[in-house]
Amino acid sequence: MSHNRVEIMHGVNLDQLGRRDARHYGGLTFDQLEQRIASFGSELGLVTRFFQTNHEGKFVEHLHGLDGMVDGLIVNPGAWTHYSWAIRDALEIAALPAIEVHLSDVGAREEWRQVSVVRDLCVATVSGEGPEGYRTALARLKQELSDA
Ligand code: DQA
Repeated sequence: MSHNRVEIMHGVNLDQLGRRDARHYGGLTFDQLEQRIASFGSELGLVTRFFQTNHEGKFVEHLHGLDGMVDGLIVNPGAWTHYSWAIRDALEIAALPAIEVHLSDVGAREEWRQVSVVRDLCVATVSGEGPEGYRTALARLKQELSDA
C-alpha cells in the first residue's frame, strides 16, 4: 500500500496572502501558493488535498475528519500556532505524521511568534523558507511516510 496522500491545512488569515506584508510572506496570492504546493507535491509523487479556514472550530473539525482519508499532514495554522490549545489537541487526536510550516522566519520575529503549541507534535518544522518551505516539508513528509 502506498502512503502518499497529504492534506495541506492553512489557518487564519492565510487566505489574505497577497495583501499581507510581502517582506515576511512574499508576493504570491493564496491561490498561487496552493498551486505551487500542488506542483511540488506532484513532482514528489504525492497526492495533495487542500483546506483553509478562518474559523478555529472548522479547523478542529477538519482535523477530526481526516481519519483514514490521508497519510500525512502539512499544517500552517497562522497565528493559531502560537496559542490554540484546541488545535493542538485536535492535531494529537488526528495522530498523523505532520510537518509545521511557516512562510516567515517566526524564530526571528516577535517573541509571541516564537512560541508554537503544535511543534512538539510535529515531525519537523520548516520556517522562513517562503513557498519553497513547502517543498522542503513535502520531501520530509515523503521520507517519513516511506519509513512508515
Ligand atoms: C505564519 C506566521 C504566523 O506568526 C502568522 O500569524 C501567520 C503566518 C507564517 O506562515 O509565516 O499568519 O504562520
